[in-house]
Amino acid sequence: MSIAETKTRENDPRGSQMEFAEIPGTALKVSRVAIGTWAIGGWMWGGSDEAESVATIRAALTHGINVIDTAPVYGFGRSEEIVGKAVADGLRQHVILATKVGLEWQGGKITRNASRARIMSEIEDSLRRLRTDYIDIYQVHWPDKLVPMEETAGAMRDLYAQGKIRAIGVSNFSVKQMEQFRRTASLHVLQPPYNLFEREIEAEILPYCRKHDIAMLGYGALCRVRMRADTKFQGDDLRRNDPKFQQPRFTQYLAAVVRLDRFAQERYGKRLIDLAVRWMLDQGISSALWGARHPDQLQPVEGVMGWSLDASAKAKIDRILEETVTDPVGPEFMAPPERS
Ligand SMILES: NC(=O)c1ccc[n+]([C@@H]2O[C@H](COP(=O)([O-])OP(=O)(O)OC[C@H]3O[C@@H](n4cnc5c(N)ncnc54)[C@H](OP(=O)(O)O)[C@@H]3O)[C@@H](O)[C@H]2O)c1
Repeated sequence: MSIAETKTRENDPRGSQMEFAEIPGTALKVSRVAIGTWAIGGWMWGGSDEAESVATIRAALTHGINVIDTAPVYGFGRSEEIVGKAVADGLRQHVILATKVGLEWQGGKITRNASRARIMSEIEDSLRRLRTDYIDIYQVHWPDKLVPMEETAGAMRDLYAQGKIRAIGVSNFSVKQMEQFRRTASLHVLQPPYNLFEREIEAEILPYCRKHDIAMLGYGALCRVRMRADTKFQGDDLRRNDPKFQQPRFTQYLAAVVRLDRFAQERYGKRLIDLAVRWMLDQGISSALWGARHPDQLQPVEGVMGWSLDASAKAKIDRILEETVTDPVGPEFMAPPERS
């Protein structure tokens, strides 16, 4: 059965109309929008406010969201700590915590390390920060070419067997890397970058995951938005380095934003944010990660639920993108370096 076929719509007790998708091979049922908490960690997003962050995570639950995605590296532990605080006091069993492993940092410099020793020590730190004794979805953050894949996958398999993690995931892996990983351990989840502007996974990765029943948590659903002519980013905000926000491409992406927004309004009575996330789900993504750090940023989530794009709408979107973005660029600028 395909992932798309397993989605169900549920009437949440709080009245939201969230859709859900099963993660094949596990007991997990994820809301089709998940909250992403990288910005909540502050680092590379120009800072964040703790009380506001806790309020944002709790607001996500009132919108029917049950998945919270974080990582040790987001704010160097800060994001996980805030997530742990937000779901303490009886909320833990109602949420699916997704975190990651395999990046280390020293003096603010990030490198990959997906060795067995690193995985086994990192999980203890994550459990402590998240104030829990299990992690629902544990994901290898980036492939590490310096460590044999059997070692990384073997460590994940052992954590799963011990009951410390409930689903095994990887992020930013190619098909070849997933193939290697699956020779040693089950693979339940891939977390790839995917959105209207960053479509590299369509060639091989998306069909592979669909074929092998690997659920996908797509990140960058909003393509780190706020794409307007007057957009300015401050401090260490990673969007200052995103080539989409630099000329000559910025003008092209802005033109696409204007035309796609007009199309969403005319065809569906929606806005671009609804269209962008709905499109991603209709392409076969199980759950779209929505980065937020203010509660009101999640207000549009309901607008994504309960409708679908037809084939002619998808074709029209493709045409708009072809006509406006003549020089597309992917999310490669975000990749952390290998260890030397
Ligand atoms: N596995 C990986 O390697 C990886 C990489 C990147 C991200 N992720 C995960 O995916 C999550 C989402 O990705 P992302 O945070 O990079 O990007 P994103 O979801 O595409 O964009 C997040 C940003 O969009 C803006 N935004 C949110 N709601 C909005 C609204 N209603 N209206 C206008 N702007 C809005 C906010 O920016 P402002 O607050 O500045 O307005 C927010 O910080 C992350 O938090 C993280 O959990 C994983």
